[in-house]
Amino acid sequence: MDPKISTVEETLTIWMADAFRNAFRKKELSDIHAPVSAATDEKFGDFQCNAAMGLARVLKRNPREIADQAIQAAGPHPWVERCEVAGAGFINIFLRTEWLADRLQEIEADTKLGTPAAGKGRTVVLDYSSPNVAKPMHIGHIRSTVIGNALDRLHRFLGYRVIADNHLGDWGTQFGLLIMGYRHFVDRAALGAHPIQELERIYVKSYEKSREDPAWLDDARRELVKLQQGDPDHLALWQLFVDLSLKEFEEIYRRLDVSFDLVRGESYYRDRLAGVLDLLRQKGLAVESEGAQVVHLEEEGLPLCIVQKSDGGYNYATSDLATVQSRIEEFDPSAIVYVTDERQQLHFNQFFAIARKAGLDANLVHVWFGLMRLPEGTFSTREGNVIKLDRMLDEAEARALALVKDASPDMPEAQQKDVARAVGIGAVKYADLSQNPQSLITFTWDKALSMDGNSAPYLQYAYARISSVQDKYRERFPEGDLAKWPIVLNEAVERRLALRLVRFPSVVLRATELYRPNLLADYLYDLAQTYSSFYQNVPFLKAEEGLRESRVRLCGLVARTLRQGLNLLGIETPERI
Ligand code: ARG
Repeated sequence: MDPKISTVEETLTIWMADAFRNAFRKKELSDIHAPVSAATDEKFGDFQCNAAMGLARVLKRNPREIADQAIQAAGPHPWVERCEVAGAGFINIFLRTEWLADRLQEIEADTKLGTPAAGKGRTVVLDYSSPNVAKPMHIGHIRSTVIGNALDRLHRFLGYRVIADNHLGDWGTQFGLLIMGYRHFVDRAALGAHPIQELERIYVKSYEKSREDPAWLDDARRELVKLQQGDPDHLALWQLFVDLSLKEFEEIYRRLDVSFDLVRGESYYRDRLAGVLDLLRQKGLAVESEGAQVVHLEEEGLPLCIVQKSDGGYNYATSDLATVQSRIEEFDPSAIVYVTDERQQLHFNQFFAIARKAGLDANLVHVWFGLMRLPEGTFSTREGNVIKLDRMLDEAEARALALVKDASPDMPEAQQKDVARAVGIGAVKYADLSQNPQSLITFTWDKALSMDGNSAPYLQYAYARISSVQDKYRERFPEGDLAKWPIVLNEAVERRLALRLVRFPSVVLRATELYRPNLLADYLYDLAQTYSSFYQNVPFLKAEEGLRESRVRLCGLVARTLRQGLNLLGIETPERI
């Protein structure tokens, strides 16, 4: 659709704000907000606006009168049948049913289902997944991958230029110990079979040795310095660790259907670290304290941040500041968004504050999420939250295969397996994406794979059933011409469905702007449920000609909306289940 076209909510919001401004010509109202949103209950109309209550406080007048006056000032709107004042001063907006039907036809003709190109001309850098070299991904990285990838898809859909950057932890003090561990303990066969596991084993062994043997620690420090100075042998070894780790991470990305534009990692910015420190010192932000360089953040209510250790090494915050500087120079982004678990909030607050003070001007956003509790067996014993993701995905696919065999015993086996893969992986992703990212959640197989609850299999099954309606129509009425008949909304349940379909664009916008894919998941679940009552309550193929075509067109729109919505969450939609 034309980028100038906005969502229903946006258009009505502008209309209401104008109405308030015209009704109350006052200076203090010049920036009035009169947001219009979907009504919470259909008793209250289709959309509602609550601005009168806030205004009543400012003007010290009765909110119902204010709402009344605004409605008078608004005058007629071509989309709106009527407005009513309700309760404490709510404005309830009822749309014209014919307009809704017209809008559906516009949406149907649009490849993006009416979604405006809101991000056109803007770039957003998305920093997500970002595991550490030589260490297994933990649950935080997995969630970052799934949530980050949904945000990635949402932004692209809205027309943003997205730079998805997998910011690997590939530069740091651990490499001295790792090199020592490699030289003394590596088991080449194990390294070939399970690279990350072996790298972790030799790291831990080397670390333990360093605790009892100071000479070992000195050697590790020397190796680190050589690496930092760019010694070719050391760099080659480091590159081997990076490559081996990436190969294993890539297997996970392949299964999750996630890809990045950049995989740069912290090492990419290492030559900027000294310059960043200089900048901080010039600005009077970094000062010496016990041989280290620190930035005080009392004004921000944050603890001080060390930007260079007393041994000359740089810290995580310094590396992230260098990264911001480089991203601003290269991409001029309207936002840089980081997706990590909640434990890194302090780090992000600190370096965001320093970036602001240092004039590294960018809209920096930390999207954090709580850690998810997983069922027994997906934890490793040594570190509480390392998850054996491949095993978890295997189990998801196996469980999904049982579901598919049950639902479609006659399907060829290869297809059953393929569908089970889509359903199993989809279930794991959806369990993650359908929750408010900031609440503590527990994963259970029963919930993730439920066929009648808020789950991927439920939505995928709904999609498959809905798309089959169109196939059946074509079988039964090969001469039928859907486009010849307009969409009509005679029944209450049809109107209810239409109201949901026209809201898809604003839900996508909100989920993107608030960085909350779960808003889209909630919407899709609600849409599928509404469809279900539509399907159960009105005849389709048995309806008279005209009505039948209109209903099949509605089905087509619901199917497309579900498919598009699930795709934005990174979830496949098989045609059959
Ligand atoms: N590698 C870090 C970790 O595993 C996450 C990096 C997040 N991104 C960033 N720019 N700091 O904890």
